Amino acid sequence: MRMYDLILKKKQGGELTREEIDWMIQGYTKGDIPDYQMSAMTMAICFNGMNDRETGDLTLSMRDSGDTVDLSSIDGVKVDKHSTGGVGDKTSIALLPLVSSLGVKLAKMSGRGLGHTGGTIDKLESIPGFKTEISMDAFISQVNNIGMAIMGQTADLAPADKKLYALRDVTATVDQMSLIASSIMSKKLAAGADAIVLDVKCGSGAFMKELDDAKALADAMVRIGRHAGKNCRAVITNMDEPLGRAVGNAIEVREAIDTLKGKGPEDFTKLVLTLGSRMVVCAGLAKDTAEAEEELKKAIDDGSALEQLKRFITAQGGDASCVDDPEILKTAEGVLELKAQADGYVQHIDCDEVGMCSLVLGGGREKKSDIIDPEVGIYLYKKVGDSISKDETMAVLYYNDKEKGLAALERLKAAYHTGTERISPRELIIGEVD
Ligand code: URA
Repeated sequence: MRMYDLILKKKQGGELTREEIDWMIQGYTKGDIPDYQMSAMTMAICFNGMNDRETGDLTLSMRDSGDTVDLSSIDGVKVDKHSTGGVGDKTSIALLPLVSSLGVKLAKMSGRGLGHTGGTIDKLESIPGFKTEISMDAFISQVNNIGMAIMGQTADLAPADKKLYALRDVTATVDQMSLIASSIMSKKLAAGADAIVLDVKCGSGAFMKELDDAKALADAMVRIGRHAGKNCRAVITNMDEPLGRAVGNAIEVREAIDTLKGKGPEDFTKLVLTLGSRMVVCAGLAKDTAEAEEELKKAIDDGSALEQLKRFITAQGGDASCVDDPEILKTAEGVLELKAQADGYVQHIDCDEVGMCSLVLGGGREKKSDIIDPEVGIYLYKKVGDSISKDETMAVLYYNDKEKGLAALERLKAAYHTGTERISPRELIIGEVD
């Protein structure tokens, strides 16, 4: 086979066979196919697209380009969850113990990533003693012992995607639906679960800003999951304003704990119950999502979800007393308040800008080597649709470096849009693919 011929075929609108795709992906991963030919191919894909079969085959080839996790020694249906990412997204920290308290088996690998705040792994590491760098054997035996584990991604999962994503990033070829869907799903499939529930975020603080794009991505990922023989479903959720009220690291863990105590913000609680009920159904432990949601609510009310969170923290070396005493999850001592200038309503919060405030404070990473400050963050007392009175506190900022705190406050001020007319917030659950 010659890469030149495959590029020409795709440029002319042709359909690549499974063998051609696999030859190209394995060759590219090994370094046999140069970046300049692969970038011509990704550009041809941008113009002429890939059908479902090609997209599915591309995903399987990328999945098979490195390690795949074998979860077969864990009994029961193993369920995974993935979010396309947003601001204030602490979902896994509340969702996984909750779902696992009903008996769903969860073996989750998480990356650190770059962004406004840390990833799930960084957030968990704000719990004193908590370890995410555990061996694969310890990971699997923890799932067998207590039903769940979360580890930092150490295995060489889907290296083809890593290389291809870096190339797409510098050749203006990121925003093609088949390439995005296959990129995300190749890593999920390599992580070995039987069923996957996807949270596709949509809105100003999400990768997918427009509803049509979010729907197309959700559809494409669910079709890939099925192509790979997995039980896969997706929920499309609002990311026009931050999720919940806390944005940061330790502060987000506190909010996740509160949610398992039944005292979480309404939107975040709803998201956790919505995704959780889909996971329980995927595991075959409830006949429908309504029954699953009732069981999940019971697990919050009777404290079993909170007990499972403590078991999980203890199993990974963390100090579980933070669940009863959240002060252990330290927030920075420097505090700045954003006050309302006049009576009225919050009409819009620029979600990305709130994320940027967290980054400015030191709560996220711009480059891989950056060190996260777990204590800094933002708490939004007022969200879209809330009424405000002059001089009332709308949000609070926790900083360790005054200069950064003041810079973040300026951005937070600009992120809040207020006025005299009440605007209803967008529904949290926008759509579903199942
Ligand atoms: N996230 C990914 O993992 N891959 C993409 O292509 C886009 C977002």
